[in-house]
Order: sequence, then structure tokens, then C-alpha cells
Amino acid sequence: MNFDTIDTTVKALWRYDYDTNIKALRDLYEVAKKEQWNAATDIPWHLKTDPAEVGDMMSDPGVEPFDFVKALSTEKQIELSKKRSAHMLSNFLHGEQGAMMLCGQLVEVVPDIDGKLYASTQVIDEARHVEVFHTYIKRLDKIYPPMPGLTALMALINAVLTADLWQMKCVGMQVIAESIAMGSFKKMKEITDDEVLKKVFELTAQDEARHVSYGLIYMKDEIPKMNEPDRDRLEDFAWTAMTILATNGLMEQKQGKKWVDPLEQIYAEVGVDYDKANSEIASRMSDPEALKSQPNPFRDNAFPQLERIGLITDRTRSKYVEVGLAG
Ligand SMILES: [Fe+2]
Ligand SMILES: [Fe+2]
Repeated sequence: MNFDTIDTTVKALWRYDYDTNIKALRDLYEVAKKEQWNAATDIPWHLKTDPAEVGDMMSDPGVEPFDFVKALSTEKQIELSKKRSAHMLSNFLHGEQGAMMLCGQLVEVVPDIDGKLYASTQVIDEARHVEVFHTYIKRLDKIYPPMPGLTALMALINAVLTADLWQMKCVGMQVIAESIAMGSFKKMKEITDDEVLKKVFELTAQDEARHVSYGLIYMKDEIPKMNEPDRDRLEDFAWTAMTILATNGLMEQKQGKKWVDPLEQIYAEVGVDYDKANSEIASRMSDPEALKSQPNPFRDNAFPQLERIGLITDRTRSKYVEVGLAG
């Protein structure tokens, strides 16, 4: 058995008045019921997946491949991109499980009946995402454990699962994590030529867009009603959530934390030197101009949504600008 546990506490809230009080959320609940799909039958699983057509899910569209990749034979390049893709998609699979658990919490903690009804539909959406990624990754390669960078994504999901304000759960998952997922799926859909994977991304991103809408509708309504201390805490939580992913991994690395990186094994299997590959990646990452021109789902997808719900204020904006997260 392979599992982790964390302790969470939630304050479950019962509603006894069942009439709609946030119409836009009730409308979204109706849309969610209509847009359900079946991971077992709505994906063209009968088509074969050719690893040469899958592409590398860890790359960015239109960005020159690394030298350590170009130095390999075509056959080995395909093998590497297949494994890197399975590794990357495995991380999203773990994230989908976290989203499913968090939505279960939302059903309990959100105070409005429309919010509860809608969140219940998202539990099955995320279950479907777990199912569809699990099935696809197994046809491509195998499920990999969380990667070092993802200990930070796990940190975000754990922060959301253990947060004490329901608004933090809603902003952290629905506005930030969902926007990042949506941006990432759109990017990966552009990279791949595999029809099966394209369909997986298309249907999944359609759900994630609805999940972001829930966060935006609900929080736009809620944030102006919050008292100032809670609102400040929510703003600070958003900042932590936005930077936990970008900085936590690197910080842990600096603190000398030892990870078992699945990529080390993957590189060894295709004959790539792990340290050399990492130093080439690090040198590209340290070029601020190159970083600016590369897609960044935090800056491009999540930040604009935080602005939209009024969580970027004079008190916090300069911090985002400083680390290049303000779009
Ligand atoms: Fe999802
Ligand atoms: Fe989602």
C-alpha cells in the first residue's frame, strides 16, 4: 500500500432553507448536470496511441528542445518524451485526487445551498479526471510518484485542505489551482498530436473552466461581505498559495532536502546524465528574458482571476510585481 495521511478539520454547515439564494451558482449547477461525460465511453479509447505522436508534456510549445534531448537518437528521444509525459501526467493525476477530496470538503463547509449542490457535481467531475488520467497514463507508460516540484503542489493542496476559512478553500482550489490546471491542460493539448490525449484534455479543461467559474461567481459575491481581518487573511493566503508552488520546491532544495526524483531513474533508462540535464534546465530557468516569454500559468491564468475577485490590493500588489507574477 502506498499512501500519505494529513489531519484536517472542517466545520460542516447544515442549511434548512433550500430555496436558491445565489442564482448564478444554481444556474452553474444546471450546466454541470448537463455537461457530465463518461471517462469510460466518451474518450476514443479504441484508437491506438503512438508515443511518437504524444509529444513531451514537460516541454513548452515553440520552445527549442534542450541539448541533452537533441543529443539522443530519435528512438531514445521518443522514449524520453513518453516517460517524461507519463511522469508529468502522473503529477496531474495526484492533483486531481486532491481536488476531489477538497470538493468533498466544500460540500460540507460552504454556507449556501446553491454552493453545496454545485460542489457535489464537482466531486464526480474530479473523480472522472482521476479515472481518465489513470487510464491514459497506464496506456502510455506507468504511474509515477509525486515529483519534487509537486511536493509543493501537495503543499498547496494540503494548505487548502487544512485551511480554517471556507473562503480560503474556495480561493486556493477553485480560483488558483483550477486556473493553473486549465492553463496547463490547454498548453499540453497544443503540444500533443495524439487524438486520445487531445480528447482527454478537451473534456477535462471544459470541466475545469466551470470549476473556475464557481470560484469567481462565489468569491465575487462573498469577498465584499467579509470583515477586514478575515479578508486580509484571505489575501495573504492567496499570496502564499501563489508562491508555494513557485518557490517551495526551490527552497526545500536549498535547505538540502533529499528527494527521490523519478526523473533520475527516467534519465538513467535512456542514457541521459541527470546532473548535466538539471544544470542545463537550471541555466535556462535563470534567464529572466526567457522566463518572461515562456508560459507561466500562475502569472497568465491565476493572477488575472485574483484581480477579478478583488484579492490583489494596494497592500499586496507590489509583492506579486516583485516576483514577476503580476501579468
Ligand atoms: Fe480536475
Ligand atoms: Fe477541477
